[in-house]
Amino acid sequence: KSIRVFAPATVANLSCGYDVLGLAVHAPGDEVIMHLNDSGQVTLDVLEGDEGRLPRDPEKNTVSAAVMSYLRHLGLAQGVSIELYKKMPFGSGLGSSSASAVAGLVAINELMGQPLTRKELLPFAMEAERLACGHAHADNVAPALLGGLVLVRSYHPLDVVRLPVPPGLSCALVYPHVEIPTREARQILKTHVPLRDAVTQWGNVAGLVAGFCTNDLGLISRSMQDVVIEPMRSMLIPCFEELRQLALEQQALGFGISGSGPAVFALCSCLSVAHNVTTALEAKLSEERIGSTTYVSEI
Ligand code: HSE
Repeated sequence: KSIRVFAPATVANLSCGYDVLGLAVHAPGDEVIMHLNDSGQVTLDVLEGDEGRLPRDPEKNTVSAAVMSYLRHLGLAQGVSIELYKKMPFGSGLGSSSASAVAGLVAINELMGQPLTRKELLPFAMEAERLACGHAHADNVAPALLGGLVLVRSYHPLDVVRLPVPPGLSCALVYPHVEIPTREARQILKTHVPLRDAVTQWGNVAGLVAGFCTNDLGLISRSMQDVVIEPMRSMLIPCFEELRQLALEQQALGFGISGSGPAVFALCSCLSVAHNVTTALEAKLSEERIGSTTYVSEI
């Protein structure tokens, strides 16, 4: 038996929702082809797109490690061969490790006859995130698994809620070709937040969620402001403030860092605005002699 599964890139945080909000885009993403066999072993081949940089040891690679912990949990000694096709950059802020892990978990769960629901796969995917960056956040893996826009209301206990998305809402993604490992982008964060900033931030998170639920693009736009994380991380991203100005001039609803960066994203009312945003941002980066890759996607 074999199967091919695609899992999408994700934009975690959505500005103000550090570790609690994330959305899935249609492209890019990673692909896994999985075959069952009688070997009793899990083997991994990374066949495309990683330039030899991901761990080949099945215990250490997120996709095979997630599949192994899933099989252990179900008490199965199933032989599995995994082919991983990395079709998106890593260290980019686009949820690359989570896309691979989610593709692997969905593939094995389908081949086993779906003993677990998508939500029940989430803890395995979160453990894969811990392996990749030292922390089991869910704001990439939950939207990659469930699709669309997702709120992680609580981690203990895990409570994940899918949110509605206004019709036509689109996402522009621009990945400047510098690498920022998530592990490092988390280590630079201060662990205390002044109460005044916390009030601003939770007002914005609540406003953003309310805007999604009521199709209020103005409210979404006003709420896309991150006073806690972005001031620390934006320094790592080339031309961040100029990119924001350009995105807003092109009528983006809001702009921010995608996950831990360096990719940036803009939420837009429709695909054509998203195209205009990526064109403007790509041109700015190219003026600064920084290569970039862009993606646009309806949500
Ligand atoms: N919420 C995580 C972070 C996402 O910002 O570190 C990482 O992609």
